[in-house]
Amino acid sequence: MGKHFEGKVAVATGTASPRGLGRAICNRIAEEGCDLVMVDLNQEACDQAAKEVVEAYGVKAIGVACNVTKLSDCENVIAKAKASFNKLDFLINNAGVLKDTLLLRMTEEDWDFVLDVNLKGVFLMTKAASKLLLKAPSGRIVNISSVSGLTGQPAQANYSSSKAGVIALTKVCAREFSGRGVLVNAVCPGYVQTDMTGSLPNDVQEKLKEMVPLKRPATPRDIANSVRFFLSDDASYITGTYLRVDGGAAIGM
Ligand SMILES: NC(=O)c1ccc[n+]([C@@H]2O[C@H](COP(=O)([O-])OP(=O)(O)OC[C@H]3O[C@@H](n4cnc5c(N)ncnc54)[C@H](O)[C@@H]3O)[C@@H](O)[C@H]2O)c1
Repeated sequence: MGKHFEGKVAVATGTASPRGLGRAICNRIAEEGCDLVMVDLNQEACDQAAKEVVEAYGVKAIGVACNVTKLSDCENVIAKAKASFNKLDFLINNAGVLKDTLLLRMTEEDWDFVLDVNLKGVFLMTKAASKLLLKAPSGRIVNISSVSGLTGQPAQANYSSSKAGVIALTKVCAREFSGRGVLVNAVCPGYVQTDMTGSLPNDVQEKLKEMVPLKRPATPRDIANSVRFFLSDDASYITGTYLRVDGGAAIGM
């Protein structure tokens, strides 16, 4: 039997950090033969990420710099994907940012920054990719939301709202694209050990760990495994939903 994703092409955003979720997702699906368009803010970092994936897994990969808040950048990513692979099977909207502070102190700029990247960025990249993706025989979109979007977290008015918005957008896209067989789902990670959470104060990191019934943060690979599931044939009757991958942190939500 061949590798599960051989002959498939994925665009994934927010993939430059070697310790981030985006890279773990790329590694996980490249292991199974998926070719990749790896997107992040900085071209050199994207090139380096793509080079590492090519060397490790023997797939084809290109890096494309893109700020997901700009439609023209997103369109350029898809143009490059088309030029290199002439098709697109999977879109993984993973790029995201934090700017935590209590609502009373949160500035309009803090709000706009997070909503622009986390929600508008998903809209723009999906819009740019949709034409090519809708031609795929079994296209898939996986959006990285967060349990914060389900529970609402203090100091995360911007982040929780953006991630809740991603779930609504996931449902809309699932309905709009269903006629063309494109499945759209979201993954809601809880606390994952990456640079994003590594930058939080130590006492906050300890508190987060305590709130997880499994008493440990997720590894990026724990999350990547669930993305892999949504992209796989095993998920062919699943669309418009989300999966919590949070060690039980938001049980009941
Ligand atoms: N780490 C966690 O605990 C956790 C929990 C739940 C959800 N998430 C979500 O998972 C995703 C990945 O998070 P991570 O922890 O790997 O974060 P990270 O900060 O390590 O990686 C995010 C990547 O996105 C890129 N990025 C930021 N703004 C961008 C933009 N405008 N255009 C293109 N790329 C941009 C960054 O350069 C970075 O490489 C995010 O959407 C995050 O909200 C993370």
